[in-house]
Amino acid sequence: MKIIFKIWRYDPQKDVKPYYQDYQIEVKEGMTILDCLYYIKENIDATLAFRASCRMGICGSCAMFIDKKPRLACETQALALGREVIEIAPLPNYKNIKDLVPDLTPLFEKHKKVNPYIVPDDEEEFLNPTGEYAQTPRELENYLQFAYCIKCGACLAACPTVGTNQEFPGPQALAQTYRYNTDNRDHGEGERKKIVDNPNGVWRCHMAGACAEACPKGVDPALAIQLLKKSFFIAFRKPQARLIPKSNKKPAQGGIKSPEPTI
Ligand code: FES
Repeated sequence: MKIIFKIWRYDPQKDVKPYYQDYQIEVKEGMTILDCLYYIKENIDATLAFRASCRMGICGSCAMFIDKKPRLACETQALALGREVIEIAPLPNYKNIKDLVPDLTPLFEKHKKVNPYIVPDDEEEFLNPTGEYAQTPRELENYLQFAYCIKCGACLAACPTVGTNQEFPGPQALAQTYRYNTDNRDHGEGERKKIVDNPNGVWRCHMAGACAEACPKGVDPALAIQLLKKSFFIAFRKPQARLIPKSNKKPAQGGIKSPEPTI
């Protein structure tokens, strides 16, 4: 099927303002939007700029505004959109570097600010580990969904609050705050609370829910934000993850050899 791609073009070195350029190509069954962009770049216009890497929904590089929604280009089947004309633009709510390339610096800075890693309580054990921390499936379940974030930036592009308040950490950083606060190996919730428990922080979310709809990995940042708000009202005690010393590790069941410890 022949499809016209209406693609946002902008080169800050020569364009006064952005414009749309049309490219018509033959799209075959199975071609993703990313395949179409590569086809255009390799066969029609080598100057077209976009970002991509893994081609399989893992790296988060190819998020763009496709048919007026934030989506991953490598996970979006072109024919499945059912359009004769497909509009593609860079993610909104970010500065546009060139063509379809957004400047994701605010996303990464906000992410970094909330200490997105496990904060240990025992510095010595952290530096010279003597065992592994065990978590029950239930303890893992508490945060697992939110650990699937690939930092593509789609949720910030969809969020109306991010669009009007640059100080708001946004759904990605807030979901990661909840993810690490809930992990029972972590002891960093006090520091994170200082960063997000303020009028421009978690309380600025008006629960539009657009972030949850935009996430290509099925993470529900809107849910994380509500749970985070709740956790600031109702202090929850998380049972600490148990440290299993190397020598006490039980042999795996059914004669299956367990993998070597990762420490
Ligand atoms: Fe990696 Fe699309 S290219 S997520």
